[in-house]
Amino acid sequence: MTLLNSDVADLLVTHLRAGTTEMSPTDLRVPISHFVSEERAARERDLLTRLPVIIGHGSEIAERGSFMTRVVLGIPLIVVRRSDGTVNGYLNICRHRGGRVEDEPCGKKRVFTCHYHGWSYGREDGTLRGVPYDDFYTHVEKDRHGLHTVRVEERHGFLFADLSGAQDWDIDDWLGPEVDEQLVPFGLDGAEIFLDKTFTLDINWKIVLDGAIDVLHPKFLHPTGVGKLIETNTSVWRQYGRHGQSFSPRTRMGDAARAGDEVDASFRYMGSNLMLYPNSMVISTPDHVEFWTVWPDLETAGRSTTQIRFLVRPEKRTERIEGRIMRSWEILEEAASKEDWPMEVTIQQNAKAHPEGTFLYGRNEQSCQHLHRELAADLGD
Ligand code: FES
Ligand SMILES: [Fe+2]
Repeated sequence: MTLLNSDVADLLVTHLRAGTTEMSPTDLRVPISHFVSEERAARERDLLTRLPVIIGHGSEIAERGSFMTRVVLGIPLIVVRRSDGTVNGYLNICRHRGGRVEDEPCGKKRVFTCHYHGWSYGREDGTLRGVPYDDFYTHVEKDRHGLHTVRVEERHGFLFADLSGAQDWDIDDWLGPEVDEQLVPFGLDGAEIFLDKTFTLDINWKIVLDGAIDVLHPKFLHPTGVGKLIETNTSVWRQYGRHGQSFSPRTRMGDAARAGDEVDASFRYMGSNLMLYPNSMVISTPDHVEFWTVWPDLETAGRSTTQIRFLVRPEKRTERIEGRIMRSWEILEEAASKEDWPMEVTIQQNAKAHPEGTFLYGRNEQSCQHLHRELAADLGD
């Protein structure tokens, strides 16, 4: 059987043997002000409402008739699984006088009823069902006062939403065939959330993403941990339309390649980070998929919220594998909370102290370059 990405493995071996890496044609300079400017932060938040962003995973509303509520970029949402198995979303805003229609984080309901004056809305399409004391209103057209719909599309288990309510993107075009090809083998539409952690940090969202996709720092910032497992500064980047994937060899691949031994594209030898523009990424491991989403803060450029979820297919769960997954979480948490994030907090403070000049992304930092090039293209700068 040919392993997916065996061409990448071959390329990595060539680079490891030659002591080289794949590189983009040029460096990239990004103004430091982009990480601290409130004006820029507001434009980025607005951009994110216009792009397909991942607001959750289908397993959170697995059962038909179930719902979850979320506030994403300040926008209150109800996301439902309809009786036919499809998903739909609404603004969690009552059409009477703006109350939250649903307060529970999740559950199963046919009708959502606002607690203020009892207006109720149907789960399937958000239509206004009941108006207590409707004689008191001269004119409430029920078919015009349903909940505002938010388009939600489910692919590979991920729930993509149009938070602006006005975009006509097609989710299949947005992801493209290469992202599909990479995600299909994980069967994420049948996966469940094994672990779900949220961290609000005093770091601009792009610096958190930079740190998570950076291939140039492991041996320096994580000398006794991740840096011992992954080769620093040999990587291959594949761009898939708006998205892309960074492949890194494990040190085991480096040792084997340099010794002239055979290697392949299995997890034993290499890892990858699939960046789903603008703010999510999928990191594959043998047992689970590590799924990150980083949200800019509503108030300040200098803060963000990172959600890390581990997705696992239920049939894979055995005591032994669960133990391995938890060990993997401990290694990740240790590296992130003791090494990556403290470094990034300092960078944020330094950017605020001295916002003149530019940050430099080298030719081998293709994954970081990609994020900033895409943002620059979308924001017209
Ligand atoms: S605000 Fe919801 S019923 Fe009045
Ligand atoms: Fe790191």
